[in-house]
Amino acid sequence: MIYSSAPGKFVVMGEHAVVYGKPALALAIDMRFTLRMAPGKTFRVNGKPATNATMSPHMRWISQAHGNQPVSVFIDGRVPAGSGLGSSAALSAAYSGAVRTLSGESADHESVARESYEAEFAAQGRGSPMDTSAACNGGGVALNVPYAKKDLLWHIEKNGNAWDVSRFDVPEMTFVIGNTGIRAATGPLVEKVRKYREESEFAYNIVEEIGQLTLDGMKCITSNDWVELGTLMSYNHRLLGILGVSCPELDSLVEAALPTSYGAKLTGSGGGGCMVALTDKPEQTAAAIRAAGGTPYIVKTGVPGLEVKVREKKPANQGKKKNPRKSKRDEPSE
Ligand code: MEV
Repeated sequence: MIYSSAPGKFVVMGEHAVVYGKPALALAIDMRFTLRMAPGKTFRVNGKPATNATMSPHMRWISQAHGNQPVSVFIDGRVPAGSGLGSSAALSAAYSGAVRTLSGESADHESVARESYEAEFAAQGRGSPMDTSAACNGGGVALNVPYAKKDLLWHIEKNGNAWDVSRFDVPEMTFVIGNTGIRAATGPLVEKVRKYREESEFAYNIVEEIGQLTLDGMKCITSNDWVELGTLMSYNHRLLGILGVSCPELDSLVEAALPTSYGAKLTGSGGGGCMVALTDKPEQTAAAIRAAGGTPYIVKTGVPGLEVKVREKKPANQGKKKNPRKSKRDEPSE
């Protein structure tokens, strides 16, 4: 039996711009998928035959890449889907780690990060390796941030874009996530920004500005300047709004969080999903988000990335105490 788990993430700064190779910062969070996998006769998910609803295109792509060996998989834990918290990336990373282990291949973080990104890209037709890198490495990941390159994890190229993915030390600060409860798929939002950026120099420059802002954000993290980081996050939210990926529900959760936080912004692809606030009053910020109609999560960061363990099945009688009378009787007579 293979046990594999990987975390979701939120984006501190730089979503959407990262798709075009601009800098971005993401932190893994204590919401994760945990799955158990064993070889099977047919594909089964949570005890039932796999369907398109239970087996995502990412999972199918990964199985196909390893010869389509049928497996039975039980999925536990939770990263809310369509909420900008990297749910498909976490599931892809955990699934890839398990399938690779079952196939006798290495499930090291880099191999799984590369494979789960390919699976995400095939399913979405677009996107950056940010979410899958955060799911595999855990902690903090910085993409195309020159300062962080001393801790380079891997370099990934796709469709004319290139990303240096590095790890960075997760600062001691508190974030509160607010979920609007509106599910929004990443693909169409990334496509919306792509079109706008291609057609308008104004939108092109906004994407450039988000990239520049993110570099400033990294400086704030290394100097523990939460006031400035919060200001940059709030400004990042306004730029994302101009790109057309916020929505009234996200804006109102951001507004609600601001009086008790250093700054707040949507996180992930937007269009619904979640926002995140940087705060040192997490309970108050969470209460304000709830009062504005959102579901708050006070998240823990600095969590481990992909973890894969193999456990042999115990033989049926292992651990059972022998009946001493029976064993005596069973002893061969001399
Ligand atoms: C999704 O978490 C973030 C986006 O930048 C898409 C991507 O990077 O693949 C919107």
